[in-house]
Amino acid sequence: MAHYLITGATSGLGREVALRLARMGGHQLTLPARDAAKAESFRAELLALGAGQVRTPALDLSSLQSTASFVSNFLRDTTDPVDGVLFNAGRQSATRLVKTADGFESTFAVNHLAHHLILKGLTHRLTEASIVGWTASGTHDPAEKSARLSGFRGARYTTAARIAQGSYDDASDEQACRDAYATSKLCNIVSARALADEAGTRRTYFSFDPGLMPGTGLAREQSAAMYWVWNNILPLIARLLPGTSSTARSSAVLADLLVGKLRGSHNGAYFNYTGGQLEPASPAKDRRVAHDLFVESDCIVGRYAW
Ligand SMILES: NC(=O)c1ccc[n+]([C@@H]2O[C@H](COP(=O)([O-])OP(=O)(O)OC[C@H]3O[C@@H](n4cnc5c(N)ncnc54)[C@H](OP(=O)(O)O)[C@@H]3O)[C@@H](O)[C@H]2O)c1
Repeated sequence: MAHYLITGATSGLGREVALRLARMGGHQLTLPARDAAKAESFRAELLALGAGQVRTPALDLSSLQSTASFVSNFLRDTTDPVDGVLFNAGRQSATRLVKTADGFESTFAVNHLAHHLILKGLTHRLTEASIVGWTASGTHDPAEKSARLSGFRGARYTTAARIAQGSYDDASDEQACRDAYATSKLCNIVSARALADEAGTRRTYFSFDPGLMPGTGLAREQSAAMYWVWNNILPLIARLLPGTSSTARSSAVLADLLVGKLRGSHNGAYFNYTGGQLEPASPAKDRRVAHDLFVESDCIVGRYAW
């Protein structure tokens, strides 16, 4: 029985990946969640489908204290190695950037920092055969046409210290929300590549662009009208739009990556929803970006480590 840990499995893409793993039968699933009631009913559904064991411990990724507690409890309550980890949870602000109670820009905090802390805590539970992935996004790439149509202009990485504070100086409030999201997704790709480059590692790391998947909870902070279009109109015309997928399609590829059925030509590869391997935009390949991101992230999460 293999053991998989997925963040953001209570909705959208992560939920579909968890359903696929459950249908494979017998796997042990750890699905940390912020909404206990939602997680509990999903747990029952997964067990009915064939999952061997399902845990849904509490985790609010917008709090580094909650994240550190989740890791401590996980290390205390489980002894099994973890075969696959998917850092999938994500958020996007719509009208203005907000800070977490810890004082960090919330998109960076949830999409990158909290996952960085979890990975540091779980290192000794991972084996050489473990697979670790991040759900990233094509929005990090300024050349991505479908993202440009939605107002994205690619990641705006300056320094981790600045983006942790939400400093996107030349942007309107709404543009800063898009910039922060695209930049957090660049951090996901950088994380996969940097860890894959570590000397002597045999563990597999990857990042994944699921494409535009209308109908998920990601647009929940948009206006009511925009959210209605996202849920009711865009899924109907999705096939006509460039770069568009669905949770059904993208989760099939993502589940294959997580269980090792699909592998790249090199460790740290970046995939998209077709299962093809892509080159990420150039900042994702810049070792100075990786160095800066890891030094600053280690420094921030170090205050919360157990
Ligand atoms: N939808 C797209 O078009 C698209 C495109 C490219 C990339 N992505 C990426 O795909 C991933 C999945 O997104 P989705 O579209 O499936 O959106 P979603 O339906 O909103 O799923 C996001 C998941 O993250 C969880 N989450 C968010 N904030 C959290 C927090 N503070 N603590 C704990 N859990 C938290 C949510 O929990 P709740 O269930 O409690 O809300 C949910 O389970 C994200 O990384 C997103 O950036 C999405």
